[in-house]
Amino acid sequence: MNPPLAAVVLCAGKGTRMKSEKAKVLHPLLGRPLAYYPITRAFESGCQQVVAVVGHQGEQVKATLAKAFEGQALAFSTQEQQRGTGDAVAAARGALTGFSGAVLILYGDVPLLTAELLTKLVAAFRAGKGPLAMVTCRPANPHGYGRVLRGHGHRVEGIVEQKDATPEQRLISEINAGLYVADAKFLWGALETLTPQNAQGELYLTDIVAKAAAVGEVAVVEADAREVEGVNDLVELAERTELMRARINVRHMKAGVSIVHPASTFIDEGVEIGPDTTVHPNVCISGECEIGSGVTIGQGSVLTHSTVGDGTEVKPYSVLEEAVVGPRCHVGPYARLRPGTVLDEGVHIGNFVETKKTRLKKGSKANHLAYLGDAEIGAGCNIGAGTITCNYDGVNKHQTVLGDGVFVGSDTQLVAPVKIGDGAFIAAGSTITENVPANALGLSRVPQQVKEGWAERRRKVLEGMKKKG
Ligand code: UD1
Ligand code: CA
Repeated sequence: MNPPLAAVVLCAGKGTRMKSEKAKVLHPLLGRPLAYYPITRAFESGCQQVVAVVGHQGEQVKATLAKAFEGQALAFSTQEQQRGTGDAVAAARGALTGFSGAVLILYGDVPLLTAELLTKLVAAFRAGKGPLAMVTCRPANPHGYGRVLRGHGHRVEGIVEQKDATPEQRLISEINAGLYVADAKFLWGALETLTPQNAQGELYLTDIVAKAAAVGEVAVVEADAREVEGVNDLVELAERTELMRARINVRHMKAGVSIVHPASTFIDEGVEIGPDTTVHPNVCISGECEIGSGVTIGQGSVLTHSTVGDGTEVKPYSVLEEAVVGPRCHVGPYARLRPGTVLDEGVHIGNFVETKKTRLKKGSKANHLAYLGDAEIGAGCNIGAGTITCNYDGVNKHQTVLGDGVFVGSDTQLVAPVKIGDGAFIAAGSTITENVPANALGLSRVPQQVKEGWAERRRKVLEGMKKKG
């Protein structure tokens, strides 16, 4: 059996270059805060415990991450003062009291990291004899990074930071990616001996590399530089988002989802989509969405925190927000399903129909121009064009309840609270303020009058007035 694995994720930095009030690690990338990604990858690669080290806006960072990882073994430590990466890792020690095993060290602002890379790093550590393994890479421009110093037999001997490096050392193209795994006992011991004798007056975590090299061999995993790049400003956030977006799209396509135009399709991390579903251009699926199989998501549609059942067709330019759409429904074009919308199997919601806190049971249809709010609509109902539930009296919201098989004629107002029984029929153009029992007709309109020749007479009168001036 492998020894236990924990992770420390550094989330204390201010992120000055983000030019934002918001803590850097809370900036969203495809629907999740930045730090969500490395923490998730740590759990995915087998960490039993993860400690997030917070500092700048610590309370907010803690609250957001605690909520995102509810029920998972995520603990927090606070780094009171930002005295360097070594000090930040040392701050996690208390949260790992009694832990013996290997500790992964990650940054909270490196979102593109994969669980595969972490698994490889841990495997290299376990296969090696030293107390430390680290990730290096060769970015196009190594400026600003710590350089990897190698000696006899290409062995890693230490890291030198850009600001401390000699001109010769600055020519080294292999850099420290900032990802490590270390034996816990070695790590806490090495951190105790750090001193701030360097150009930045900080406690450098990187100094533990030379300490590890002195007692054993430092294992190295070389990574693609793009995978380990952090986020320092909003331009980089957009660049990382772009790569993450492409990666998510590829994952769905490989799982049987047709994405017609990947470059204009935005799908958040955490969205689930079944096979044989087609996603048309300019679609945005965000938050916790679950899309079934054989679904069509029409061009320009925006889905947030919604569920869509198998075989449903969402036609172009529909907006779904916290909606639950059953199987084999037809939605849109131009439908707006607001929070609390529940569509049972085979429901049709057509163009310019808005629903809120409303359930339509099996096979019911509202095909054109309607507002259905705070309503319970039975199975097999037909809601005519222009139907409106008048659910709000200016102070309170009221319910409209329709039984099964109700026919609501066009341009009807249902003034809530109001109930319509099974099989009832509402005449077009009615304003319904009283309950209508099952199988009855509800009708409230002025009887029609027909006046023969009236229009012609009126025209003559008006033309006569015009001539007179
Ligand atoms: C660090 C490494 C450098 C490496 C680079 C890779 C050190 C001394 N240097 O440099 O070798 O090439 O990462 O990106 O480690 N943080 C805290 N508390 C602190 C300081 C930092 O939580 O007191 C966090 C930051 O929020 C950030 C991470 O640690 O997420 C890295 O800190 P940063 O100051 O950006 O390190 P670099 O100078 O980039
Ligand atoms: Ca950095």
